[in-house]
Parts: sequence; structure tokens; C-alpha cells
Amino acid sequence: MIKSLSAAAAAASVAVLTLAAPASAKNFKIAVGDSGGSSQEATGLGFVKALEELSGGKHTATLFLNGQLGSEQDTVNEAAIGTLDMSLLAINNITPFSPTVGVFTLPYVILSLEDAEKLTQGPIGQELTENTINDAGVRIIAWTYTGFRVLTNSKKPVKSVADLEGLVIRVPKNEIMIDTYKAWGISPTPMAWSETFAGLQTKVVDGQDNPYTTINAMKFYEVQKYVTNIRYIFSIEPLIISEQVFQELSPEDQEIVLEAGKAATAASAQFLRDKEAEIKQILLDKGMQIDDPENNEQEFIDLATAAVWPKFYESIGGVEKLNAVLVEIGRDPV
Ligand code: MLT
Repeated sequence: MIKSLSAAAAAASVAVLTLAAPASAKNFKIAVGDSGGSSQEATGLGFVKALEELSGGKHTATLFLNGQLGSEQDTVNEAAIGTLDMSLLAINNITPFSPTVGVFTLPYVILSLEDAEKLTQGPIGQELTENTINDAGVRIIAWTYTGFRVLTNSKKPVKSVADLEGLVIRVPKNEIMIDTYKAWGISPTPMAWSETFAGLQTKVVDGQDNPYTTINAMKFYEVQKYVTNIRYIFSIEPLIISEQVFQELSPEDQEIVLEAGKAATAASAQFLRDKEAEIKQILLDKGMQIDDPENNEQEFIDLATAAVWPKFYESIGGVEKLNAVLVEIGRDPV
């Protein structure tokens, strides 16, 4: 009797010990598509700082910059199967895996940083986060706001749609962006982000589009001369975590990761507000020529919205999804 009581007590204490044992410390591996000085890095550093503070130093994370861990689209696959913890990448590189996030890439939908913050941090951002978990096995835990994707090229100033003729423009492997350039009359070249600098340098392509902060961080001024301030996509770049990795965390650690994500989002918005004008000046100082499109960009806007929006209603989940976005940012529904 005594023996069996002791055995029960021993079993109970093992159980208590097991339950009380602290979950092991993590050093999350974060793939980052861009290099140092980018908005993505600002988000990543904000995440690392908050993670260490909120976990009392138990957890940390390491950034692997400049596509060291593979192309942005490849990192989604890696995270989905749990061989990579996290990735910081442009939302256009998630869309192929979770088409409803394409609503944030439709041309001329998001017209300011404030629009981007409102949409990503509200119910629509939450719904898209749930969709990426179900579709792609990755969870969005923070948002990077990188600014408008402006067009760069090495050959000539572009002020009108007609000026695009003769230019070979690299785009991500993203149908919405490919179709936008087609609406402007040229057939762009889809190319992975990790190959883009080399593509520009070797003149396989003449140009590309990305925000000022990215152009500067990636040193595109070394291989590009002309910038056109088109504002067709406000670039949003999520920090994603493998859903498998997230589910292996204790509830407390999940909460810490989500809170650190919110701090990273705030750090990203601050970075853009503090740095964008300064970085534009750096590009001018490096010798880039920056032009505005003619007629307030109206021709670019009209052609892109007329051809591209209807084509993608189905993939984003119906025209009502676009309308929900437009209404949320105070615009008229279609
Ligand atoms: C792309 O053009 O593929 C991305 O916007 C690159 C990036 O992540 O900055």
C-alpha cells in the first residue's frame, strides 16, 4: 500500500516537473529578402528587440539579410514545412500562395501609409492573416510599410505610359503586377528578387519597381539612373512565422511573439516616417533623376484599374473584398 502510494506520488511529481519545466529558449531564424538599411531590416530589428525584452532575454532571433536563405517565394515554402522559422518578404511574393492577399497589391488601392496601417492592423488584415495560415501554412505577425513602388530604369526618363515602350522591366512572379504592366502596353519579365540586382547589372532587364528605401538599401543607384514616381502599389512586407513552429510554442511564448510583432510593425512605420525623405535625397545625391508622371499619373491609373481590378475579383475572394477595403479607407466602392 505504502509502495503504491509512493509510486503514485512519484508519478505525480514527474508530471508536475514536466508541466512546470520552462519551454526551451529559441533563437528564431529570420530570412530577410533585402539588405541592411532596408525597411525589412527595421522591422526585423524591432522584432528582435521586443522579443528579447518581452521574454526577459529567454528568446532571441537572428536576421539573415539579403536573400541568404533563398528567394522570397522559396522562403514561404520553407516556412510552410517548418524548416525555416520566419521570413520578411514583400506581400506580392506571398500572393502566389494565398491569392486573397492580392487585394493589397491591386494597383492604386492603397494610397498612403495611413491607408496601409488601417487596413493591415484592422479586421481585413486579420482575415488575410487567417487566410495565409490556411492557404500557405504561414502566419503574418508583423507588417512592414515600405512606401510606394517607384519605377527605375537605366535608359531614359519615363513620364508617360508611351515612354515605357522599348523598356524591359523586371517584376516579381506576381500575376497582378505582370498584368498591370501589360495594361500599360509592355510585357514585363518576371524574375525572383534575389536575381534582380544581377539582372539589372548585366542588362538582362532595363528596369524594375520598388520603394525608395529598398532601392537605396539594395544599391540600385549603381545600375539604375531614372526614377518615375508612380504610386501604383504601396509596398507592404509582412513578417511571417511558420504556423508549425508557432503551434509548437507555449501559449505564453505565442503571446510574446505576437506582441513583439506589434512592436515591429510600429518600428517599421516609424522608420518610414523618419527616413523616406532623407533616402529620396540620398538617391538624388547618388545621381538618380526623379520625375513625376504627367497629368498626375491619370493615364497610368485609368489603364491599370480598368484592366486589372476586374480580372482579379475572383482570386481576391470577390468584388466585395475590394469594396470592403475601399470603404475601410474612406473610398467609394466599385
Ligand atoms: C520584389 O520586388 O520582389 C520585392 O518587393 C522585393 C523586396 O522584398 O523588397
